Amino acid sequence: MENGNKTHFVDEARITERSMKRSQTDEVRKHYGPWAPTYGRPEDDGPLMAMVRAREDRIIDESLALDGTESILDAGCGTGARAHALKDRGHVVWAVDCTPEMVAIAEVHVDRAVVADLHELDLGRTFDLILCIGAMEFSHEPGALLKRLRAHVAPHGRLIVLVPRTGPGGWLYRFIKAKHGLDAHLFGTGEMRRLAREAGFDWEGHRTPFIHNFVAVLRTTAVS
Ligand SMILES: C[S@@+](CC[C@H](N)C(=O)[O-])C[C@H]1O[C@@H](n2cnc3c(N)ncnc32)[C@H](O)[C@@H]1O
Repeated sequence: MENGNKTHFVDEARITERSMKRSQTDEVRKHYGPWAPTYGRPEDDGPLMAMVRAREDRIIDESLALDGTESILDAGCGTGARAHALKDRGHVVWAVDCTPEMVAIAEVHVDRAVVADLHELDLGRTFDLILCIGAMEFSHEPGALLKRLRAHVAPHGRLIVLVPRTGPGGWLYRFIKAKHGLDAHLFGTGEMRRLAREAGFDWEGHRTPFIHNFVAVLRTTAVS
């Protein structure tokens, strides 16, 4: 009887966790779906947002350290601006996003585009580099999401993530997303280091494009 009750509680906890993840991903789709046709267009962004993007792009670019042969996954690709630029440089590029309207735009200039929730990612291959820019903050389980990304990084490969950080800039970002019904998680570098270690990554370093975010470069932990 007691065991039966325990199982019941465990099952309920799993169902609640799964529905929380699903409902947050649904909110993400509702937020980003209608935005897809204009997302990231300089004429819609305005000068402040354009400046933020330009600096983020520069720092991400400097972190890439590519020799031109790497396979790349853009995880949470949006309309695929970064994926397209990397494809132009001759890389094999795949792109994944949970919002179909975003993928419909991203897919025009990548080797493969997939609609998928990063929590359930299973592409059946690995990549030398994964970019996850501005997507992980919408996860209620960032550790689990990082583990799915880790499963797709080749040995000695890297993951580059951009996330909002704790502090006044992050609080403002969180407030803006909350107005759109999205719960954005803010990360400290200490928390990201711990999650990265638990997922099987070494921490190579981080940079802070702005007061509200940071870019972390993670490398798969060497197996001795
Ligand atoms: C802020 S946009 C960033 C898009 C792109 N990486 C960029 O830098 O322009 C966030 C994107 O992450 C996607 N996203 C958020 N959570 C996701 C999840 N769990 N699985 C897949 N995509 C997700 C959204 O659909 C959206 O397109």
